[in-house]
Amino acid sequence: MKFAGITKRLAGLGSEKWAVHIEGRRRALEGQPMIFLSIGEPDLPPPSAIMDVANRQMRAGRTRYSSGRGEPEVLNALSRLYSTRTGRAISTDQFLFLPGTQTALYAAMMTLVDEGDEVLMPDPYYATYEGVIAAAGGVPVPVRVDPDHGFHLKAEQLEKAITPRSRVLLMNTPNNPTGAVFTRSEIEKIGRVCEKHDLWIVSDEVYATLTYGNTVFASPFDEDWLEKRTVVVSSVSKSHAMPGFRCGWIAASEQFCANALPVTETMLFGSQPFLEDATAFALDNAFPEVADMKRAYETRARTLVAGLKGSKHVSARMPEGGMFVMVDVRKTGLSGEAFARKLLDEESVVTMPGESFGAGGAGHLRVALTVDEHDIAEACKRIVRLAERL
Ligand SMILES: Cc1ncc(COP(=O)(O)O)c(C=O)c1O
Repeated sequence: MKFAGITKRLAGLGSEKWAVHIEGRRRALEGQPMIFLSIGEPDLPPPSAIMDVANRQMRAGRTRYSSGRGEPEVLNALSRLYSTRTGRAISTDQFLFLPGTQTALYAAMMTLVDEGDEVLMPDPYYATYEGVIAAAGGVPVPVRVDPDHGFHLKAEQLEKAITPRSRVLLMNTPNNPTGAVFTRSEIEKIGRVCEKHDLWIVSDEVYATLTYGNTVFASPFDEDWLEKRTVVVSSVSKSHAMPGFRCGWIAASEQFCANALPVTETMLFGSQPFLEDATAFALDNAFPEVADMKRAYETRARTLVAGLKGSKHVSARMPEGGMFVMVDVRKTGLSGEAFARKLLDEESVVTMPGESFGAGGAGHLRVALTVDEHDIAEACKRIVRLAERL
């Protein structure tokens, strides 16, 4: 029997990227104690007040079909949040409520990309980007960013990669895997290039609330002159440790949302009203657990950077945001992949090879900050020990 072309375009995209993690899981199931630094899943529970709202609203009968665009309560909460953030009135018609950032990314690509259109993305990039672009028939165009400049994308590099087929810049700030956060001035420069070449900007802001030190989050959507060409995708998966709720959204122009709505309605026929109510509550209120979680990630990142300091062979820079640290193993002479394998085999520490996130991640490991400080400190000792042995 014949399958559609999308199955070929997506085949093999993914599984090998997770090979070290999958092997680590297998060994853990066999009883081998392992330290897992591979998966970007919050280890702390969501604020209990949010779970109470989901429960209460489910029992109150908010279990029927939702409006395809999203229920008025959550659209109003999003409108309040983004109006405050941008300092402009952002109407409820500028949002679509969707099951997580991943679905929002998929819907955005389906709305913007035709067969053969090129989508530029800073490399290293998040593991599913190639897939969402290829699903829409697009061509991913990685633009290498320099690890020695904190993995920040330069506007000139972006411009060099643009061709007549370029349609979209897919950016992610704070970045997974690199921890880089675009400054406002970088966004202005990149935005000018996108304006000149009439590119859409899809801005993945799933880690927007997680910035550290003096870093300030900035978004192209917050610049009035870039609003109409920007499509923000985000969720409460990381900000509120709610990945299993699958609650996310698109923020964009009314015109974009009107064009994307038939795409998302065809896919989904709406979300779950009781979870939309819980998201509205999450967005409208402050929670001590959320502040604690952010502090925990920052402390863990500092522990990791300090734990590798002094090593002649491996190093890490404090991330500006997000949930990950890139560990530079280039001086060991091994690839990220080879180092991650040895670390798994010889030290029982599970990380992601930087190469899993594109050629731009070569010679690095991506470490997720989703275990406690004690385990992070122990993992550092083992990473340094292995590097010294090599
Ligand atoms: C950069 C990035 N985008 C999107 C996602 C998916 O997020 P969600 O759970 O909201 O679908 C992740 C999850 O790890 C991510 O790291």
